[in-house]
Amino acid sequence: MIRLDRFISERTEYTRSRIKELAARGSISLNGTPVRRSDVKIDPESDTVEVCGAVIGSQRYRYILLNKPAGYVSSTSEHDGKNVMELVPPQMRTKAMFPAGRLDKDSLGALLITDDGELSHRLLSPVSHIPKIYIVKLDRPFQNKYVDIFKKGIEIGGGETCLPARVRQAENADNMAFVELYEGKFHQVKRMFSAVENCVEKLMRISYGNLILPETLGIGSCMELLHKDVEKMLDEPDFDRICTDFSDIFSAILINN
Ligand code: URA
Repeated sequence: MIRLDRFISERTEYTRSRIKELAARGSISLNGTPVRRSDVKIDPESDTVEVCGAVIGSQRYRYILLNKPAGYVSSTSEHDGKNVMELVPPQMRTKAMFPAGRLDKDSLGALLITDDGELSHRLLSPVSHIPKIYIVKLDRPFQNKYVDIFKKGIEIGGGETCLPARVRQAENADNMAFVELYEGKFHQVKRMFSAVENCVEKLMRISYGNLILPETLGIGSCMELLHKDVEKMLDEPDFDRICTDFSDIFSAILINN
Protein backbone atom coordinates (compact mmCIF):
# COMPACT_ATOMS: atom_id res chain seq x y z
CA MET A 1 0.00 0.00 0.00
CA ILE A 2 1.27 3.50 -0.80
CA ARG A 3 -0.01 7.01 -0.34
CA LEU A 4 -2.22 8.31 -3.13
CA ASP A 5 -0.16 11.52 -3.57
CA ARG A 6 3.07 9.53 -3.88
CA PHE A 7 1.50 7.15 -6.41
CA ILE A 8 0.31 10.06 -8.57
CA SER A 9 3.46 12.19 -8.27
CA GLU A 10 5.67 9.28 -9.32
CA ARG A 11 3.61 8.74 -12.47
CA THR A 12 2.75 12.30 -13.54
CA GLU A 13 4.21 15.80 -13.46
CA TYR A 14 1.93 16.88 -10.61
CA THR A 15 3.60 17.99 -7.38
CA ARG A 16 2.22 16.79 -4.05
CA SER A 17 0.78 20.25 -3.28
CA ARG A 18 -1.02 20.32 -6.65
CA ILE A 19 -2.36 16.82 -6.00
CA LYS A 20 -3.72 18.00 -2.66
CA GLU A 21 -5.54 20.87 -4.41
CA LEU A 22 -6.90 18.59 -7.13
CA ALA A 23 -8.21 16.16 -4.51
CA ALA A 24 -9.88 18.98 -2.55
CA ARG A 25 -11.59 20.07 -5.81
CA GLY A 26 -12.91 16.55 -6.40
CA SER A 27 -10.73 16.01 -9.51
CA ILE A 28 -9.15 12.80 -8.22
CA SER A 29 -11.13 9.62 -7.92
CA LEU A 30 -10.38 6.25 -6.40
CA ASN A 31 -12.30 3.33 -7.90
CA GLY A 32 -14.80 5.75 -9.40
CA THR A 33 -15.47 7.82 -6.25
CA PRO A 34 -13.89 11.27 -5.69
CA VAL A 35 -11.40 11.33 -2.80
CA ARG A 36 -11.01 14.66 -1.04
CA ARG A 37 -7.72 13.78 0.72
CA SER A 38 -4.49 12.93 -1.02
CA ASP A 39 -2.84 11.16 1.93
CA VAL A 40 -5.06 8.04 1.83
CA LYS A 41 -3.36 4.69 1.20
CA ILE A 42 -4.04 2.77 -1.98
CA ASP A 43 -3.10 -0.57 -3.47
CA PRO A 44 -1.46 0.20 -6.87
CA GLU A 45 -2.20 -3.33 -8.12
CA SER A 46 -5.93 -3.34 -7.52
CA ASP A 47 -7.10 0.28 -7.13
CA THR A 48 -8.02 2.50 -10.08
CA VAL A 49 -6.90 6.10 -9.75
CA GLU A 50 -8.14 8.84 -12.07
CA VAL A 51 -6.89 12.41 -12.25
CA CYS A 52 -9.04 14.87 -14.19
CA GLY A 53 -10.74 11.89 -15.84
CA ALA A 54 -7.51 10.14 -16.99
CA VAL A 55 -6.63 6.77 -15.47
CA ILE A 56 -3.14 6.67 -13.94
CA GLY A 57 -1.74 3.23 -14.75
CA SER A 58 0.03 1.16 -12.13
CA GLN A 59 2.98 0.26 -14.38
CA ARG A 60 6.42 1.55 -13.46
CA TYR A 61 7.09 3.28 -16.76
CA ARG A 62 4.83 5.22 -19.07
CA TYR A 63 4.76 5.02 -22.85
CA ILE A 64 3.10 7.81 -24.82
CA LEU A 65 2.80 7.76 -28.59
CA LEU A 66 2.68 11.27 -30.02
CA ASN A 67 1.74 12.05 -33.61
CA LYS A 68 4.26 14.87 -33.88
CA PRO A 69 3.30 17.92 -35.92
CA ALA A 70 5.87 19.91 -37.91
CA GLY A 71 7.30 22.91 -36.06
CA TYR A 72 8.14 21.17 -32.76
CA VAL A 73 11.62 20.17 -31.61
CA SER A 74 12.15 16.62 -30.23
CA SER A 75 13.60 17.84 -26.98
CA THR A 76 12.78 18.20 -23.29
CA SER A 77 14.41 21.62 -23.02
CA GLU A 78 12.26 24.71 -22.73
CA HIS A 79 15.03 26.72 -24.38
CA ASP A 80 14.65 25.03 -27.79
CA GLY A 81 11.44 26.85 -28.73
CA LYS A 82 8.24 24.82 -29.12
CA ASN A 83 9.09 21.31 -27.92
CA VAL A 84 7.17 18.06 -28.15
CA MET A 85 6.74 17.74 -24.37
CA GLU A 86 4.25 20.63 -24.53
CA LEU A 87 1.92 18.36 -26.48
CA VAL A 88 1.73 15.69 -23.75
CA PRO A 89 -1.14 16.42 -21.33
CA PRO A 90 0.08 16.81 -17.69
CA GLN A 91 -1.79 13.74 -16.48
CA MET A 92 0.14 11.60 -19.01
CA ARG A 93 3.57 13.05 -18.23
CA THR A 94 6.20 12.02 -15.71
CA LYS A 95 9.18 14.10 -14.69
CA ALA A 96 11.68 11.70 -16.25
CA MET A 97 10.06 11.45 -19.69
CA PHE A 98 11.96 12.15 -22.90
CA PRO A 99 11.43 11.53 -26.64
CA ALA A 100 12.87 8.17 -27.73
CA GLY A 101 14.39 8.89 -31.12
CA ARG A 102 14.52 12.34 -32.65
CA LEU A 103 12.40 13.58 -35.50
CA ASP A 104 13.56 16.78 -37.21
CA LYS A 105 11.64 19.95 -36.46
CA ASP A 106 9.91 19.82 -39.86
CA SER A 107 9.14 16.05 -39.64
CA LEU A 108 5.86 14.53 -38.52
CA GLY A 109 4.61 11.28 -37.16
CA ALA A 110 5.24 8.60 -34.56
CA LEU A 111 7.33 9.73 -31.62
CA LEU A 112 7.55 7.62 -28.49
CA ILE A 113 7.81 9.60 -25.27
CA THR A 114 8.75 7.50 -22.27
CA ASP A 115 10.65 7.35 -19.01
CA ASP A 116 11.89 3.81 -19.79
CA GLY A 117 15.56 4.32 -20.68
CA GLU A 118 16.18 0.64 -21.35
CA LEU A 119 13.37 0.30 -23.89
CA SER A 120 14.45 3.52 -25.56
CA HIS A 121 17.97 2.17 -25.91
CA ARG A 122 16.66 -1.08 -27.38
CA LEU A 123 14.51 0.76 -29.91
CA LEU A 124 17.29 3.03 -31.05
CA SER A 125 20.36 0.80 -31.05
CA PRO A 126 21.10 -0.73 -34.49
CA VAL A 127 22.23 -3.87 -32.62
CA SER A 128 18.63 -4.59 -31.55
CA HIS A 129 17.59 -4.57 -35.19
CA ILE A 130 14.23 -2.85 -34.65
CA PRO A 131 13.22 -0.99 -37.81
CA LYS A 132 11.46 2.32 -38.08
CA ILE A 133 9.45 3.04 -41.24
CA TYR A 134 9.10 6.49 -42.79
CA ILE A 135 7.03 7.82 -45.66
CA VAL A 136 8.49 10.67 -47.67
CA LYS A 137 7.27 13.08 -50.31
CA LEU A 138 10.04 13.64 -52.84
CA ASP A 139 10.83 16.59 -55.03
CA ARG A 140 11.34 14.32 -58.08
CA PRO A 141 9.87 10.96 -59.10
CA PHE A 142 11.03 7.82 -57.31
CA GLN A 143 13.47 5.68 -59.33
CA ASN A 144 13.62 1.91 -59.04
CA LYS A 145 17.42 2.02 -58.89
CA TYR A 146 17.12 3.41 -55.32
CA VAL A 147 16.08 -0.05 -54.13
CA ASP A 148 19.50 -1.58 -54.87
CA ILE A 149 21.46 1.50 -53.90
CA PHE A 150 19.83 1.67 -50.45
CA LYS A 151 20.07 -2.11 -50.04
CA LYS A 152 23.85 -2.00 -50.46
CA GLY A 153 24.27 0.71 -47.81
CA ILE A 154 24.52 4.20 -49.21
CA GLU A 155 27.23 6.78 -48.42
CA ILE A 156 25.68 9.99 -47.16
CA GLY A 157 28.72 12.23 -46.76
CA GLY A 158 30.79 13.16 -43.74
CA GLY A 159 32.46 9.75 -43.96
CA GLU A 160 29.18 8.02 -43.02
CA THR A 161 27.75 4.92 -44.70
CA CYS A 162 24.25 3.68 -43.87
CA LEU A 163 23.33 0.14 -42.97
CA PRO A 164 21.38 -1.67 -45.70
CA ALA A 165 17.87 -0.23 -45.87
CA ARG A 166 14.68 -1.01 -47.76
CA VAL A 167 12.87 1.52 -49.91
CA ARG A 168 9.75 1.21 -52.03
CA GLN A 169 7.60 3.55 -54.04
CA ALA A 170 4.17 4.19 -52.53
CA GLU A 171 1.16 2.93 -54.51
CA ASN A 172 -0.45 5.45 -56.86
CA ALA A 173 2.14 8.20 -56.30
CA ASP A 174 5.44 8.44 -58.16
CA ASN A 175 6.90 10.99 -55.73
CA MET A 176 6.09 9.15 -52.49
CA ALA A 177 8.20 6.39 -50.97
CA PHE A 178 8.53 4.28 -47.85
CA VAL A 179 11.94 3.72 -46.23
CA GLU A 180 12.81 1.24 -43.50
CA LEU A 181 15.83 1.98 -41.29
CA TYR A 182 17.52 0.13 -38.44
CA GLU A 183 19.47 3.16 -37.25
CA GLY A 184 19.02 6.88 -36.80
CA LYS A 185 21.84 9.01 -38.12
CA PHE A 186 21.43 12.78 -38.15
CA HIS A 187 18.96 13.76 -40.96
CA GLN A 188 19.46 10.25 -42.29
CA VAL A 189 16.49 9.88 -44.64
CA LYS A 190 17.00 13.34 -46.11
CA ARG A 191 20.71 12.65 -46.66
CA MET A 192 19.98 9.26 -48.27
CA PHE A 193 17.74 10.82 -50.89
CA SER A 194 20.08 13.73 -51.42
CA ALA A 195 22.84 11.18 -52.13
CA VAL A 196 20.72 9.91 -55.05
CA GLU A 197 20.07 13.47 -56.22
CA ASN A 198 16.53 13.68 -55.01
CA CYS A 199 15.18 15.80 -52.17
CA VAL A 200 12.79 15.03 -49.29
CA GLU A 201 10.09 17.68 -49.13
CA LYS A 202 8.12 16.07 -46.31
CA LEU A 203 8.79 13.19 -43.97
CA MET A 204 6.64 11.25 -41.53
CA ARG A 205 7.59 8.31 -39.30
CA ILE A 206 4.80 5.77 -39.43
CA SER A 207 6.10 2.93 -37.24
CA TYR A 208 8.42 1.66 -34.56
CA GLY A 209 8.89 -2.07 -35.10
CA ASN A 210 5.46 -3.48 -35.82
CA LEU A 211 3.58 -0.69 -34.03
CA ILE A 212 1.99 1.41 -36.74
CA LEU A 213 0.81 4.94 -36.03
CA PRO A 214 -2.99 4.62 -35.73
CA GLU A 215 -4.70 6.66 -38.44
CA THR A 216 -7.21 7.78 -35.79
CA LEU A 217 -4.48 9.54 -33.80
CA GLY A 218 -4.64 13.11 -35.11
CA ILE A 219 -1.54 15.21 -35.72
CA GLY A 220 -0.51 16.75 -32.38
CA SER A 221 -2.41 14.13 -30.32
CA CYS A 222 -1.05 11.56 -27.87
CA MET A 223 -2.17 8.17 -26.68
CA GLU A 224 -0.99 6.04 -23.79
CA LEU A 225 0.40 2.72 -25.02
CA LEU A 226 -0.60 -0.54 -23.41
CA HIS A 227 1.81 -3.35 -22.68
CA LYS A 228 0.73 -5.18 -25.88
CA ASP A 229 1.54 -2.07 -27.96
CA VAL A 230 5.01 -1.82 -26.43
CA GLU A 231 5.57 -5.51 -27.28
CA LYS A 232 4.61 -4.79 -30.90
CA MET A 233 7.41 -2.22 -31.09
CA LEU A 234 9.88 -5.04 -30.56
CA ASP A 235 8.42 -7.18 -33.38
CA GLU A 236 9.58 -7.23 -37.00
CA PRO A 237 7.08 -5.47 -39.32
CA ASP A 238 6.07 -6.75 -42.76
CA PHE A 239 7.47 -3.85 -44.80
CA ASP A 240 5.87 -4.82 -48.12
CA ARG A 241 2.44 -5.32 -46.59
CA ILE A 242 2.64 -2.01 -44.75
CA CYS A 243 3.62 -0.19 -47.95
CA THR A 244 0.67 -1.72 -49.80
CA ASP A 245 -1.95 -1.38 -47.07
CA PHE A 246 -1.04 2.08 -45.82
CA SER A 247 0.08 3.91 -49.00
CA ASP A 248 -3.15 5.78 -49.59
CA ILE A 249 -3.74 6.68 -45.94
CA PHE A 250 -0.27 8.00 -45.15
CA SER A 251 0.25 9.66 -48.56
CA ALA A 252 -2.94 11.66 -47.97
CA ILE A 253 -1.90 12.62 -44.42
CA LEU A 254 1.54 13.72 -45.62
CA ILE A 255 0.16 15.80 -48.48
CA ASN A 256 -2.31 17.57 -46.20
CA ASN A 257 0.06 18.42 -43.34
N1 URA B 1 15.53 11.12 -41.11
C1 URA B 1 15.50 12.46 -41.35
O1 URA B 1 16.16 12.94 -42.26
N2 URA B 1 14.71 13.21 -40.57
C2 URA B 1 13.95 12.73 -39.57
O2 URA B 1 13.24 13.49 -38.90
C3 URA B 1 13.99 11.34 -39.34
C4 URA B 1 14.77 10.55 -40.13
